[in-house]
Amino acid sequence: MIDIHTHLLPGIDDGPSTERESIEMAQIAWESGTREVVCTPHLMAGSEATAEEVHTAVDRMRAALMKAKVPLQLHPGREISLTWLPQMTDEQLRRSTYGGAGRWLLLEMPFTGWPIDLTAILEDLAIRGFQAVLAHPERSQSVQRQPDRLREAVGLGALLQITGSSFLGEHKPGATRAAEALARLGWMHLLASDAHSATWRTPDLAEGVKAAAKAMDTEPTDINWMVEEGPRALLAGREFRPPRPPARPELLELELRDFPDLPEHSRR
Ligand SMILES: [Fe+2]
Repeated sequence: MIDIHTHLLPGIDDGPSTERESIEMAQIAWESGTREVVCTPHLMAGSEATAEEVHTAVDRMRAALMKAKVPLQLHPGREISLTWLPQMTDEQLRRSTYGGAGRWLLLEMPFTGWPIDLTAILEDLAIRGFQAVLAHPERSQSVQRQPDRLREAVGLGALLQITGSSFLGEHKPGATRAAEALARLGWMHLLASDAHSATWRTPDLAEGVKAAAKAMDTEPTDINWMVEEGPRALLAGREFRPPRPPARPELLELELRDFPDLPEHSRR
């Protein structure tokens, strides 16, 4: 597995504060079956390390893992706050893409409020040659009330990254319900841990994959592309077209009944 959303670097954001804890996190990831991890420190007010500092921190951590004999492979990335995005130059964005490959950016969905300029942001990024992965939309209150709000973003080619622990009830109940709904609607394109520590929100991605598969009434191997092919395409800067899940009208009906605020066109 490749985990595309982690806060594993020490002392750079609200992830681990020491190298020792970073190594513990890497061990947990490795033992759960993750072989590669993308380090995606926050880029927001208060977490303003430059892309160069992130790349240097990844190199330093690689050396520390080699010394600790943890064979986990690390890649550079970034989780960019939507409010921070407009001030970034093309070069800064390029350096913040998955693997530095120049294409895919991880954008943080706000937990409260709907970003009314999301469509314009995605269109502007596309003109500049970038594509977006939206981080943890299931934890956004607006999406929890009305998952259909993501329709336009998905139509513009954004990929939705759901957090494994959302299926395990580690966030508010609304997040679990929204994660299950998005998964069943086929709007879960990537699964990641968003790990912040070795003791809470850990990088154990296997548990999340199992729980997500259960919510979709399928087997973990059937959704393996969310933690293998998808992540590999992001890191290589390639196009990725997520497979559509098999049509399950009965599951869809069940979900739509749970969301009375959905507009009429979503109910057909
Ligand atoms: Fe995150």
